[in-house]
Amino acid sequence: MNLFDVYPINDVTIVKAKGTYVWDDKGEQYLDLYGGHAVISIGHTHPHWVKRIEEQLEKIAFYSNSVKIPLQVQLAEKLGKVSGKTDYQLFLCNSGAEANENALKLASFHTGRKKVIAFTRSFHGRTSLAVSVTDNKNYIAPVNETDNVIFLPFNDEEALEACFKSNGKEIAAVIIEGIQGVGGIHVADDSFLRSIRSLCDQYGAVYIADSVQCGYGRSGKFFSHDFAGVNADIYTMAKGMGNGFPVAGIIIAPHIKPKHFQLGTTFGGNHLACAAALAVLEIIEEEKLMGNAVMIGKYLRNELEAIPQLKNVRGRGLMIGFDVPEELKDLKKNLLRNQKIFTGEAKPNVIRLLPSLGLKKKDAEQFIESIKEEINLLVSTAVL
Ligand SMILES: Cc1ncc(COP(=O)(O)O)c(C=O)c1O
Repeated sequence: MNLFDVYPINDVTIVKAKGTYVWDDKGEQYLDLYGGHAVISIGHTHPHWVKRIEEQLEKIAFYSNSVKIPLQVQLAEKLGKVSGKTDYQLFLCNSGAEANENALKLASFHTGRKKVIAFTRSFHGRTSLAVSVTDNKNYIAPVNETDNVIFLPFNDEEALEACFKSNGKEIAAVIIEGIQGVGGIHVADDSFLRSIRSLCDQYGAVYIADSVQCGYGRSGKFFSHDFAGVNADIYTMAKGMGNGFPVAGIIIAPHIKPKHFQLGTTFGGNHLACAAALAVLEIIEEEKLMGNAVMIGKYLRNELEAIPQLKNVRGRGLMIGFDVPEELKDLKKNLLRNQKIFTGEAKPNVIRLLPSLGLKKKDAEQFIESIKEEINLLVSTAVL
C-alpha cells in the first residue's frame, strides 16, 4: 500500500528529538524553529512530559466519556489558572479543526442562527465547517460550499460594522485568529478585536477566538487575543496543548450553557491526552515559558529588523514572520540544507518562526548568524 500523497515533504527523516533540536537518521543535528508546525511548546521529549505520559500509560491510557475522568477536572482547573479564564468550561477533543468545528456548532446551537463571519487569509482547519470559514478555495470541496459564511477584510472595522448592521440578527459567530498563522503571520489589531467583542454583544453573536496556533503562550500571553483586553466567548486550542500528543479543546464562557449530547467525541479527553496536557501546563508555569517567549521573541524581531533584505518583520512572542524578497526565495531551503535549521513558511515568500517556547538565547543568536550568512551567500551569487 502507498501513502496518499498529499504532503510536499522535506527529504529528511527525523529519528530523535530533544528540546529545540532534532536529529536525522544519519546523525545530523538540526535546530528546530518550526516545532512541527507550532506544536512543540515546551520542547521535544521534555523529561517531565515523558514521565507523566509513561506513568499514566502504566495505569490506564483510555476510557471513553461515559465514566468520570478526574484528570479532565484537574486539567480544567490548571488551564483555568494558567490562562486566567477560571470561570470558563472545558470541552476536550482531538485536533484544531475539531475544536473549531465544535465552537462553530456550539455558537449556532446557542444563538439558533446560521451565519458566520470569517476573514480574508484565515485558516481554521480542514473539516467541514472549519474549512468553510477558511479563506482558501483549494481546500474547500464542493460539499463544503455554503452561503452561511461571510468573508470580510481582516482588520477592517468599518466593513465589520456595516456587515453587522445589515445582517446582525442572522450572525451566529465571528471566528478570528489572534495572529493569522497559515495566512502569513498577521496580527489582529487590538481595536479590531474590541470591535468584534462589542458588536457580538450588541447583536447577540458569539466571539470565537481561534487560538489553535497563536494560543498556549506562544504570543507571550496565554491567548494572543488577550492583548486586546477583552474576553472571547469561546477559545479554541490544539497544537501546543499536548506538545505533540494529539489533544485539543475549547473553553466556553459561563453564559453558554451545556446540554447533554450537544457535543461529543470518543477519544477526546482520554486519560493519556489529559496527562500530556497537564504536563505541558506544569512546564509552561514552572519554566516561565511565556516570559521567555516575550524575551527571546523581542531579541529575534530586533535582530531580524536590522537585516536590510528582510521586510515587514512581524508577530508577537515566538510567533514571528517576515517577507523574503524574490531574489532570496531559496533562503528557507538553504537554511535547512546548509545550516540545518528548520523554519516554517507561508505563501508567497514568508518565513515563519514557531519554535519551542523554551528557545534559548544562544540558539536564537545562532539562527541570526546563520540567516545573515545565507543571505550574504545568496546576494553574492546573484551579483556574480
Ligand atoms: C489557526 C488554526 N486553526 C486551526 C487549525 C487546524 O488544526 P488541525 O490541523 O489540528 O486540525 C490550524 C492548523 O494549522 C491553525 O493554524
